[in-house]
Amino acid sequence: MEFSAIIVAAGSSERAGPGVPKPWRWLGGKPILRWSVEAFLAAGARTVIVVVAGDRISDAQDALADLPNWRAVPGGANRALSVQAGLEAIRDRAPEHVVLIHDAARPFLTSEHVQSLLDALETADGAIPARPVADTLKRGNEQGLETVSRAGLWQAQTPQAFRLEDIARAYASWSGDSEPTDDAAVLERAGGRVVLVPGDPMLMKLTYPEDFAMAERLVNPSYQVRIGQGLDAHRWGPGTSVWLCGVEIPHDQTLMGHSDADAGLHALTDALLGAIGEGDIGAHFPPSDPKWRGAASDQFLRHAADLIARRGGRIVNVDVTLVCEAPRIGPHRDAMRNRIAEILGVEVSRVSVKATTTEGMGFTGRGEGLMAQAVAMVETPA
Ligand code: CTP
Ligand code: MG
Repeated sequence: MEFSAIIVAAGSSERAGPGVPKPWRWLGGKPILRWSVEAFLAAGARTVIVVVAGDRISDAQDALADLPNWRAVPGGANRALSVQAGLEAIRDRAPEHVVLIHDAARPFLTSEHVQSLLDALETADGAIPARPVADTLKRGNEQGLETVSRAGLWQAQTPQAFRLEDIARAYASWSGDSEPTDDAAVLERAGGRVVLVPGDPMLMKLTYPEDFAMAERLVNPSYQVRIGQGLDAHRWGPGTSVWLCGVEIPHDQTLMGHSDADAGLHALTDALLGAIGEGDIGAHFPPSDPKWRGAASDQFLRHAADLIARRGGRIVNVDVTLVCEAPRIGPHRDAMRNRIAEILGVEVSRVSVKATTTEGMGFTGRGEGLMAQAVAMVETPA
């Protein structure tokens, strides 16, 4: 049966914790979005429409450029609007053309899932994978709980299969007072007959931070913990402020260097590169290249974090020590931790910033320069 696929990937991933939106996170060496696109193409989709946030069209190009028969369109403010943007992109197809609508956040789709939906659609208006609810259901809060019978309750997954005209019409006539959370709900409301095919735990929707760690372990069951360390020093010179750990601090001197001379971020970048055996900051961003003159060092750190993510790795924790007599670091420590966590896309609890003096001894003690040291722990597929 000929069919097209719509993958909605325009959400804001609020429940997924810090970091880039989930379709763009890396899983098993590729962006999560790419998993479903490849699966639909392998299952014989004629066209795959990926619905992405308006400012992510070029990211889709980067992630999928080498694949055939896909197109990216901008999504809407909620899932239902994103689905409708996808339907609009294939409205020139025949009314009975089959469309499978899928969440990008469910990467482990297979041809077998697709085939069972296509088979079931032969005798129905809609077909969806669903699993009987397994856990006991409770309604309430700390004040009181009641147990809700789970008899006859199902968890609906995606992809969900329909004929183009049926689902497009149903969306056009949707009059529910709240936004539908799946497409079958829209067809049901319009009087369509939706049938269930057996769901699969592998079609789980990656929603919360821990879901991503679990998915990564499914792809790469064996992990190793690795450690890296970094060291950097810059000389003090005339100036009015200094960049340290991504934060600009007013000071009567500045650190001299080719980039913004943020020794804290440089040491940390080297620690992360060290943990994955990727050389050092100078190898990735040669000081001889004028492009990096005055450059903000957050991009160096983000690059190192990206290299780790791309190989399926995860930052366990990082710890930076700044060695200087002045400025005082204490008042800025929280801002530094927050900024580093933001750049790395990790919770702030994984980031430590400390400071010490050398009691007047050595080049830091004499105020000739500032030194930074960092260690980083990462987990990568073995
Ligand atoms: N989606 C979309 N457009 C929206 C909202 C959601 O395309 N305006 C997509 C998401 O990208 C995701 C799918 O719908 O692939 C299922 O939504 P969900 O898992 O809720 O993702 P998000 O809305 O991004 O996450 P959250 O609700 O935690 O913010
Ligand atoms: Mg959502």
